[in-house]
Amino acid sequence: MKLQELILEAQERLIQAGVCFGHGTNNAHDEASWLILWSLGLELDTDTTTLNSDLNPGQIERALNLIDERINKRLPSAYLTGEAWLQGIPFFVDERSIVPRSLIAECLVNASIDPWLDIHTSRVLDLCTGNGSLAVISAMVYPDIQIDALDISLQALEIARINVDRHMLGERIKIQISDGLDHASGPYDLILCNPPYVNAQSMKELPPEYRAEPALSLDGGVDGMDFIRKFLNDAPSYLSDIGVIVLEIGHEREYFDKAFPSLEGVWLETSMGEDQIVLITKNALVAYQHS
Ligand SMILES: C[S@@+](CC[C@H](N)C(=O)[O-])C[C@H]1O[C@@H](n2cnc3c(N)ncnc32)[C@H](O)[C@@H]1O
Repeated sequence: MKLQELILEAQERLIQAGVCFGHGTNNAHDEASWLILWSLGLELDTDTTTLNSDLNPGQIERALNLIDERINKRLPSAYLTGEAWLQGIPFFVDERSIVPRSLIAECLVNASIDPWLDIHTSRVLDLCTGNGSLAVISAMVYPDIQIDALDISLQALEIARINVDRHMLGERIKIQISDGLDHASGPYDLILCNPPYVNAQSMKELPPEYRAEPALSLDGGVDGMDFIRKFLNDAPSYLSDIGVIVLEIGHEREYFDKAFPSLEGVWLETSMGEDQIVLITKNALVAYQHS
């Protein structure tokens, strides 16, 4: 059997089993390629069309066992391989934290936040840092900034520590436990936040792959806005005068608009559409609070 044939076989098994995607890939072919290449010890960007030699029975068995494990356990692939990639950057991950996939990473890399930053932007907070991926990517994108990376989960912060050390950013990223902004030490020029925002109804309907992640990472209460409500209420005193917030709300725009009806935000364009990431300036937040 050749690599292409093995990937097609794996793809078919994933489709037949009806597994759910969304943790790094969005289709059976990419998911199958990822797991097969990983099990063969090949780079994930390998051009699979150029590898035409026959695989040996041991390689085939190992690869298909991994596919079957993915199907039987219904875990995100990243929990099986211990690695997730975001914007081309590798991150360690296990069940202690959510799998990195935030669209904020895209906004950092494609510079869509930059028009709201300033030459004086130097202090950044990654609130709800989890695996630390956004802290790491922002440190890479903006080489002059210092970052505080906060999370309420000690277990998630263990993963953040691994990733910060892996990318040798320990001198620029300070990891700290904190419930919301309780242990933040502003003022910050930029606050990145991918919080728990899933509403109660959606929590009940989550596919197993999402239920395998810590509920604390996802559960945003009845309307998904519990964390965000408190955060936006507290945030002005943690922002500098040029400060901005970049907040992910996933598919919860409807709930966000209902909870904050007159808050003026700028919706940033992403590969998943224009209603998942909102940028809020300190001025807009203060005006909202006084309205
Ligand atoms: C959606 S995950 C985001 C993780 C990471 N920033 C990412 O984008 O992959 C949300 C994170 O918020 C953390 N969290 C939940 N409630 C919190 C709170 N009250 N204060 C601080 N962090 C909290 C969870 O532990 C989890 O790591």
